[in-house]
Amino acid sequence: MKRREFLRNAAIVAATQTLYSSPLKGEELKASLMKGEQENLPPRGPVGELLIDSEPVLQNYAETSMGIAFSVTDWANGYVIYGEKPDLSDGRKVWCGGYRMTAMDNEVIQVRLTGLKPYTLYYYKIGADRIEYKDGYHIRITGNEEREQVYSFRTAGKEAKSHFCVINDTHAKWAAFGPAIDKVMQLQPSCVIWNGDACNTEETIAAQKRIFLKPEIERKDFAANIPYLFCPGNHDNRGLANRHLERIWMYRQPEERQPRDWDLGRNFAVRMGDIAFIGLDTGEDKLDGNPKFCNLFVSEPYRVAQQAWLRDALRQPEIKKAPYLVALCHIPLYDPRPDANPGDIYPADVDDKHKNNFAAWQRTCSKLWGPLLEKAGCQLLLAAHQHVYRLHKPNDEHKWMQIIGGGPDMSGENKKHFPTVIEGEVRDGQLVITVHNIYTGTVQETITISKRR
Ligand SMILES: [Fe+2]
Repeated sequence: MKRREFLRNAAIVAATQTLYSSPLKGEELKASLMKGEQENLPPRGPVGELLIDSEPVLQNYAETSMGIAFSVTDWANGYVIYGEKPDLSDGRKVWCGGYRMTAMDNEVIQVRLTGLKPYTLYYYKIGADRIEYKDGYHIRITGNEEREQVYSFRTAGKEAKSHFCVINDTHAKWAAFGPAIDKVMQLQPSCVIWNGDACNTEETIAAQKRIFLKPEIERKDFAANIPYLFCPGNHDNRGLANRHLERIWMYRQPEERQPRDWDLGRNFAVRMGDIAFIGLDTGEDKLDGNPKFCNLFVSEPYRVAQQAWLRDALRQPEIKKAPYLVALCHIPLYDPRPDANPGDIYPADVDDKHKNNFAAWQRTCSKLWGPLLEKAGCQLLLAAHQHVYRLHKPNDEHKWMQIIGGGPDMSGENKKHFPTVIEGEVRDGQLVITVHNIYTGTVQETITISKRR
């Protein structure tokens, strides 16, 4: 373990130990825990070290907003300057965070651009003031770093080019992630959907930054000009740091959903050209009551809450009228072997050994969401989780086609195990799905899907 990481872990442990006997509760405790991790840190970084040490990452592709995150090495008050002119002569500066005060931070800067126009090309650059913060009255700006590079993105909307890519189960396996990203960069889609299990079990913010902001691949700018949508997988819930994944990957804008659904910040209903995307979060794949997890997960009510959200999302005019309805979630909703995936409900006769590992996704997520997706005429469900590419054609149990993306295995030992980039593009009045085999560098399969009725 590197010294800095060791110190940071020690700081978390110290903060946690103090707070075990703390009178603080709920939100206050959460805030203190998160702050504690930072306050107990020694001064960061040698003088002269770059303040911004990652490319920007475009999070939460939407019609009228965009999230931009980047990594910093010291206390920084970050910002984005954006405009519609390539030279940014019309540039507006937006500070990190929300109202009231900025989100000055010493790890990750998150800037939200709102009030954007649909299907519009925006240019932007990133910057940050280095902050010396002694106390509330003794604050100094000790430097400024502004990247010269101008990046760009295009917002979503009905006019957008109907072209997307899906990556999944990347698990910080750079040998697979690198070439998958190279394929995405070559294809230049309107957006990429990261369909879960980006993580393994992440205990520190440094580990999260390595996955989402500073991957060890050549294309560090993987998400600087192509916006991403994110569907979390079960592994994105695991580890102390991942309990606050929003520190690294921000929640979606609250105005996208009604107050009842305020806590469903990972769900999305986004229109991109002829395609309407629905993003669902299957949550943890172990039972909430699994003794191993000590009641730390509440996936069951979370999935139920998403049913109400889904019902309303499918009624939104731009979603309802889209010629193609594509749903995404990490854990497949259909499996021909019901015992292949862990789930929530198990039959009474299942033995103890299999209790916590038994799949009944068909009876939980599939029952909750499946009928709504079918009624809406969903043609395609894109899932992940199993680390093996699979295609399930519509049958009596599900009217949609289900495609499961492959895992991060580049060993070539098993011909069935290879990473995929699933590309979708509307061409000549059809949605053409091309499954790219990243191990062989060839096209594994091509599927065409007609417009929904
Ligand atoms: Fe996985």
